[in-house]
Amino acid sequence: MNIEQRKKDHIALSVSGEAAYKKTAGFERFDFIHNALPEINLDEVDTSAELLGYKASLPLFVSSMTGGYSEAGQVNRIIAAFCRKHRIPFGVGSQRIMLEQPETTESFSIVRKEAPDGFISANIGGGQLANGFTEKQARKLIDSIEADAAIVHLNVLQELMQGEGDRNFKGILQGIEDLVRVSGVPVIVKETGGGINGDNARKLINAGVSVVDVSGAGGTSWSKIENHRRNQPDHPFNEWGNPTVDCILEARNAGLSPDQLMASGGMRSVLDAGKALCLGAGFTAMAQPVIRQINKGGEEGLEAWYQEYKQQFATLLCLLGCRRVEDLSERHLREVRITG
Ligand SMILES: Cc1cc2nc3c(=O)[nH]c(=O)nc-3n(C[C@H](O)[C@H](O)[C@H](O)COP(=O)(O)O)c2cc1C
Repeated sequence: MNIEQRKKDHIALSVSGEAAYKKTAGFERFDFIHNALPEINLDEVDTSAELLGYKASLPLFVSSMTGGYSEAGQVNRIIAAFCRKHRIPFGVGSQRIMLEQPETTESFSIVRKEAPDGFISANIGGGQLANGFTEKQARKLIDSIEADAAIVHLNVLQELMQGEGDRNFKGILQGIEDLVRVSGVPVIVKETGGGINGDNARKLINAGVSVVDVSGAGGTSWSKIENHRRNQPDHPFNEWGNPTVDCILEARNAGLSPDQLMASGGMRSVLDAGKALCLGAGFTAMAQPVIRQINKGGEEGLEAWYQEYKQQFATLLCLLGCRRVEDLSERHLREVRITG
């Protein structure tokens, strides 16, 4: 199967909902404490948040998703224009294909044309770093979009579920450390829905990584996507991965500050995002909800979704008596007692 068809399958399967984990990201384990006396005026609520010096309109990052063929270029164009308009940081999908097929570069570089002043992240696979990635290749990927940050995605689970995937994962951490040294931009490391545990998070920060995006289980399952593609829909590894909430708590307990901790994986509402921020993340990210909106309603659909999301986010802050995003803290949550 060619790489273009594989990428199309990925989008179709994630949007259909067939590739979602059965297990949840864990947000239902917490409830907000309602504040009947919030002492706040909704008009004074400020939803903005900062990521690596970039002031965003919301603590929301549009996760890395696509690139590498002409339709993907169109999706990247829509995401870039949207993110520029609303000051939302974002990332392109895996740029590995650019090294194998340089003619695909335009489907990535289009984002910088659409968003000259946007915050854009490059995307490099951890597997690539472990298998002879050079400084020259890093420069090529980063420079092609004049990236503000370089994202390394960890996707061992996906690779192992793919007949044609990578099999050597020795040397990824060293590769990340080398990338930090030569990239010239901050390095963000993310999973792809399997989660990053506390020990991994600590090691990444010690290697010089600026931000860890835990990308935990509870949303898109890459094991399911790959196993659907190879007609093994009931594969035993489909539910492999650690829920996002557990990853956030572990990373926080491993000493990561909100500035160093991003949360994604099954983030599906303002309430999920608010809980992630209360638990210790400084920023949140989403993939599937964004591509779903684009698929359903194009640019207009995405715009309507954003307006609703922003309004709901302001409502959440108001309900909790918080004027700013940084005011969200664990004292706004209580654990839900499981009875029965
Ligand atoms: C269609 C699609 C394509 C993706 N492609 C990439 C990719 O190329 N690089 C990457 O780092 N993550 C990729 N991801 C993973 C997401 O960035 C994210 O980590 C994961 O889907 C969990 O978030 P979600 O539950 O909001 O979808 C992709 C996700 C989707 C839905």
